[in-house]
Amino acid sequence: VPMHLPWIDAILQLKRERGAVIMAHSYQSPEIFHGVADVTGDSLALAQAAKDCGADLIVLCGVHFMAETAKIISPDTRVLIPDLRAGCSLADSIAAADVRALRARHPGVPVVSYVNTTAEVKAESDACCTSANAVQVVEAMGSDRVIFLPDRYLGAYVASQTAVELMLWDGCCEVHETFTAAQARHARERFDVRLVAHPECPPEVLAEADFVGSTSAMGAWLAREKPERVALITECSMADNLRLRFPDTEFIQPCNLCPHMKRITLPNIHACLRDLSGEVMVPAGIAARARRALERMLAVGR
Ligand code: 13P
Ligand code: SF4
Repeated sequence: VPMHLPWIDAILQLKRERGAVIMAHSYQSPEIFHGVADVTGDSLALAQAAKDCGADLIVLCGVHFMAETAKIISPDTRVLIPDLRAGCSLADSIAAADVRALRARHPGVPVVSYVNTTAEVKAESDACCTSANAVQVVEAMGSDRVIFLPDRYLGAYVASQTAVELMLWDGCCEVHETFTAAQARHARERFDVRLVAHPECPPEVLAEADFVGSTSAMGAWLAREKPERVALITECSMADNLRLRFPDTEFIQPCNLCPHMKRITLPNIHACLRDLSGEVMVPAGIAARARRALERMLAVGR
C-alpha cells in the first residue's frame, strides 16, 4: 500500500491546528482511509458520525452527497470537501421535480430515497436510507407500498427482502452496474473464493454472492467468517482498505474505480485544510426539509 508520508504528516499537522475531523468513506484510497482519517466507514457510519462528532470543522473525503448529508445533519459545523466536483451517477439520476411528479401520480405513497441523492431530492422525501438500513427504513414507513429511489438494483434487492411493494426509479451506480454474473462465477471457479457483493450490483450478480451488504457490513462479515479467500464485488479500494485489517485473508480484487471518489487526493485534502476551501452549503429551507428525512433514517439506525 503506497503511503506518501510527507503529505500525510503535513495533513495531520494542519488537522491538529484546525481542530478538524477527517471522515473517509470505505472507497477512499488507503493512504487517505488509513493515513489521515479519524472516522471511516459506510455512508450510514459517516452520517451518524456527523451527528455525534461535535467538531467545528469536518473534512469529508467522499462524494458530494456525503458532505451535503453531514452539513444537513450538523448545520453548525463547517463541512469541507476536497473536490466539490466529486459527484455520483445515482445522485445525478433524479431531480426534485421528478419526485414531485411521482408523488402527484401516486398520492399518499411514502417516498424513501437512498442517501445517494441531492439535498433537493431528500427535501422531497419522507425518509432517507443507506444500503445498511434500507429494508428497515422501508418497513418503518408503515405502508404496503413505498416509492423507493433512485437505485433500481438496490431497490430490487430490498424488494426481495420485504413484503412491502416497492415502486422503483431507473437510476444506477456506474461502478456496480458493470459487474456481471459470469465474472462472479469465474472468480469463484478459478480462485475458489467466497463472494461478497454490494447491493448496487445487478440482481444476477447478487444471486451468485455468499453475502450482500454495505461497505461496513462487508468488514463485519469478514470479521465473523474469516474466509481464506474472498472477492469483493465492489469498488477497488474496498479490498485495499480491508486487506490491512485482515492480513490472513487473501483478496481477489476487481479494479472498478469510482472516478468521483478518486477525485479526493492527499494534495487536495491538504489544500482544503490550508485554505478552508470546498465548503458545502445547503439553503436553509431545503436543509430543514432534508433534515427531517435524514433524522428518520438515523432514528431507524443500523
Ligand atoms: P455504502 O453506504 O455501502 O458505503 O455505499 C455507498 C456507495 O456509494 C456505494 O457505491
Ligand atoms: Fe456513486 Fe457508485 Fe461512486 Fe458510490 S460507487 S459514489 S454509488 S458512482
